[in-house]
Amino acid sequence: YAKNTTQDVVVIGGGPGGYVAAIKAAQLGLQTTCVEKRGTLGGTCLNVGCIPSKALLHATHLYHEINDSAKWGIEISGPAKINIEKLMSQKQKAVTGLTSGIEHLFKKNKVEYSKGHGRITGKNEVTVYDANNKEVEKITTKNIIIATGSEPTPLPFIEFDEKVVVSSTGALSLDKIPEKLIVIGGGVIGLEMGSVWSRLGSEVTVIEFLDRITPFEDPEVSKEFQKILSKQGINFMLSKKVVGATKNGDQVTLKLEDSKGGNPTEITANVALVSIGRKPYTADLGLDNVNVKVDNRGRVEVEEHSLKVKGTENIYAIGDVIVGPMLAHKAEDEGIFIAERLAGKEGHINYDCIPSVIYTSPEVAHVGLNESELKEKGVKYNVGKFPMMANSRARTNGDSVGFVKILADSETDRVLGVHIIGPNAGEQIAECVLAMEYGASSEDIGRTCHAHPTLSEAVKEAAMATHSKAIHF
Ligand code: FAD
Ligand code: NAI
Repeated sequence: YAKNTTQDVVVIGGGPGGYVAAIKAAQLGLQTTCVEKRGTLGGTCLNVGCIPSKALLHATHLYHEINDSAKWGIEISGPAKINIEKLMSQKQKAVTGLTSGIEHLFKKNKVEYSKGHGRITGKNEVTVYDANNKEVEKITTKNIIIATGSEPTPLPFIEFDEKVVVSSTGALSLDKIPEKLIVIGGGVIGLEMGSVWSRLGSEVTVIEFLDRITPFEDPEVSKEFQKILSKQGINFMLSKKVVGATKNGDQVTLKLEDSKGGNPTEITANVALVSIGRKPYTADLGLDNVNVKVDNRGRVEVEEHSLKVKGTENIYAIGDVIVGPMLAHKAEDEGIFIAERLAGKEGHINYDCIPSVIYTSPEVAHVGLNESELKEKGVKYNVGKFPMMANSRARTNGDSVGFVKILADSETDRVLGVHIIGPNAGEQIAECVLAMEYGASSEDIGRTCHAHPTLSEAVKEAAMATHSKAIHF
């Protein structure tokens, strides 16, 4: 017989949105269950997303640096070699360590962990099923939080086999280095995973539908980024669409056309990575049982300021399954926001200050609006730009590509957006997020003392450049 339980909160999904919401709710004294069907906690991010991809990016960067170390007088006999099996097992170690760590956090914070598929079977009821669709637990609950995340979007004419035609999940676990890798979609996944395999020796070609890669970045950043990645050996085919595909054994041939149509060509590779975006995941969730509809992109619709699912009183949704950037930290912040609200507290989330980082080399990071968004909104702004070539630490490290660009309101000097392409951009953006969260002006950043010699001085100098002049450029 199924177990019967009564709780204050049931969270469906144990990814960064769900597990963080569950821990926070329990910390605030609410009786909480988190239902997860994957078998491990941490969701897409820890299992097949952020964490394994960063492990591979770290290791392959190291590999590249080692083979490039002679300029520092570090001489090794012959080129460093890659043992792909060991690389993959070290990546898996990072994943397993972190996912099991969340189980410990659940125990420590007294979150009930229910393993299985959660379905909403009533306004105040979630039923959990095992892999054979057998009912294992029926939970009566005051509140439900939907945190079921997202899944890769396939192309309509090729299915993922995760060997030759792969999603990010397959691209994280290839057992040999493909001679030729085609990446469909020049966004975050395509460029991170493309970098990994390119560093390992694959010939990588990125096919992008639009006329620039990373179309969500500042246009100047996209341009610089493509230039740098091209120098690293990645090929780009812009304004192209894939219109057909045939698999022949361990190869795949893609039919291409210009995005506007016409000019047909073909390209063959050992592996094709489809990274054209992700879509919300709500399969078999029981939304019909509570009359919840999804929008035209499959997202659960929530009220803007409360994240309450439209048409319901006690059901909330967070993370990739709702509107907004599909990022782990956005999901986490929404999880904390809801937990605090359910515990009778205020909660805080600022959608204008959510950073985004692409963990390539160099890293690309931004917070706030870019130049094309500001132009579209008709906002007048000043630009302060500082090249990493003029930053002493970057020069010392022999890694001085890219720039910092700060956009500040031309009347108030308030920082509206920061765009960084360069070494450690992902860490550097943090101070800019904090500055924007507190409504800083670019003068505030420019007058804040930054340690020398650090990469962060480039942020200070870019801030100085918005309203007066940088010192070192
Ligand atoms: P998810 O992490 O997708 O978790 C949802 C969980 O719910 C899943 O474990 C699923 O099994 C479970 N579930 C679904 N339905 C049910 C059900 N009915 N019952 C029980 N369980 C269910 N973001 C970043 O911020 N930084 C990065 O560096 C980064 N790198 C990424 C790299 C890759 C390759 C990918 C694919 C994504 C990356 N992301 C990154 C995005 C990030 O992984 C997601 O934004 C984040 O995981 C979303 O969290 P979530 O909690 O909303 O959903
Ligand atoms: P994406 O939205 O980053 O990029 C998709 C790219 O594919 C875009 O450039 C788009 O113009 C292009 N495209 C769309 N359809 C196409 C088609 N038919 N043919 C050719 N190109 C096409 O999506 P991606 O890379 O799949 O990542 C999914 C999500 O995962 C992202 O929204 C991102 O937020 C998240 N993610 C975040 C990471 C990070 O924060 N570092 C790392 C990896 C993923």
